[in-house]
Amino acid sequence: MRVLLTGGAGYIGSHTAAVLAARGHQVVILDNFANAERDVPERLVKLTGQQMPVIEADIRDTAAVSAALRAHPVDAVIHFAALKAVGESEADPLLYYDMNIIGTIRLLQAMQEAGVARIVFSSSATVYGQPDSSPILEDAPTRVENIYGRTKLVMEDLIRDLARTGKLKAAANLRYFNPVGAHPSAVIGETPRGVPNNLMPYVTQVATGQRPHLNVFGNDYDTPDGTGVRDYIHVMDLAEAHALALEHICANDVSLTVNLGTGDGTSVLQLVKAFETATGREIPLVIAPRRPGDVASYYANPALAEATFGWKAKLNVEDMCRDSWRWQARRDGINDI
Ligand SMILES: NC(=O)c1ccc[n+]([C@@H]2O[C@H](COP(=O)([O-])OP(=O)(O)OC[C@H]3O[C@@H](n4cnc5c(N)ncnc54)[C@H](O)[C@@H]3O)[C@@H](O)[C@H]2O)c1
Repeated sequence: MRVLLTGGAGYIGSHTAAVLAARGHQVVILDNFANAERDVPERLVKLTGQQMPVIEADIRDTAAVSAALRAHPVDAVIHFAALKAVGESEADPLLYYDMNIIGTIRLLQAMQEAGVARIVFSSSATVYGQPDSSPILEDAPTRVENIYGRTKLVMEDLIRDLARTGKLKAAANLRYFNPVGAHPSAVIGETPRGVPNNLMPYVTQVATGQRPHLNVFGNDYDTPDGTGVRDYIHVMDLAEAHALALEHICANDVSLTVNLGTGDGTSVLQLVKAFETATGREIPLVIAPRRPGDVASYYANPALAEATFGWKAKLNVEDMCRDSWRWQARRDGINDI
């Protein structure tokens, strides 16, 4: 298939581009490079051997997206492009409504105009808010706890409505748990700007000495070691899930909403230990107070993805730590892995 990836130069988009190319699909990237390094497309060519057309455009620019779809007719779109920082969404709600919700509406309009009726969408486990229990199934109640989460729910609903009314022939809302890791080649990976919001990039920056220690926010949760438990998923497994979901919905013209996680909960302390074992680097810790809004524990029940399109995560937490470190170490010129 020929597939347009909005946000295809970003973290999850670039890994999905690599996996799609390896499976014989032709990738077209559309990105405004607001949160991506300029040379990601070049690195993807080096990694995959595929020349991928790159369109520098904002998804809110319907004319530009329409022109891209005319120049590069595609079978489907995978829609990654979005803003994704919870704190920033609370500080600037209109920015998030505009970029995420208006951006998605504009994209869907351009797709409709071009006759492209199949989409895979990056949703998030954040739509479950504070879950009643884990593992979380897809029919668990959705709860909005911040503006980023609200935009994800609205975007899911937009896509479900278009599928229900036949305007989209096939749609997948993929609810990611906690993506980490990098391509094993260390040619692509995650490059957070400023202080990382997520645990793994923070840990890798402590390992390089860029940050003195890791703050562990709360060690008195009702979890086996008192620290927060999350469902970390290797970005390569996540990328593979996009390819399988895409192939499934396009072959069968169906729509679905599925969790993408490993189904295993890992605590902060377990993750740090796995990182130290995988890399031989020590991570100094400082126990800090709980952060408001943090959930003690959440992890997926990923059975639906396996039953529907045969996907199951293969990589474990050590793999995630090793590949995250290999990527960070290569960027920082550290030669010990
Ligand atoms: N990384 C996570 O922890 C996580 C978890 C759940 C869901 N998601 C979702 O997955 C998607 C991809 O996340 P990521 O981690 O790869 O983020 P990312 O920031 O690395 O990638 C997003 C890409 O979209 C581009 N972009 C942003 N706004 C755009 C716009 N208006 N027009 C065109 N391009 C635009 C950015 O330049 C970037 O390359 C997002 O929708 C995010 O909300 C991410």
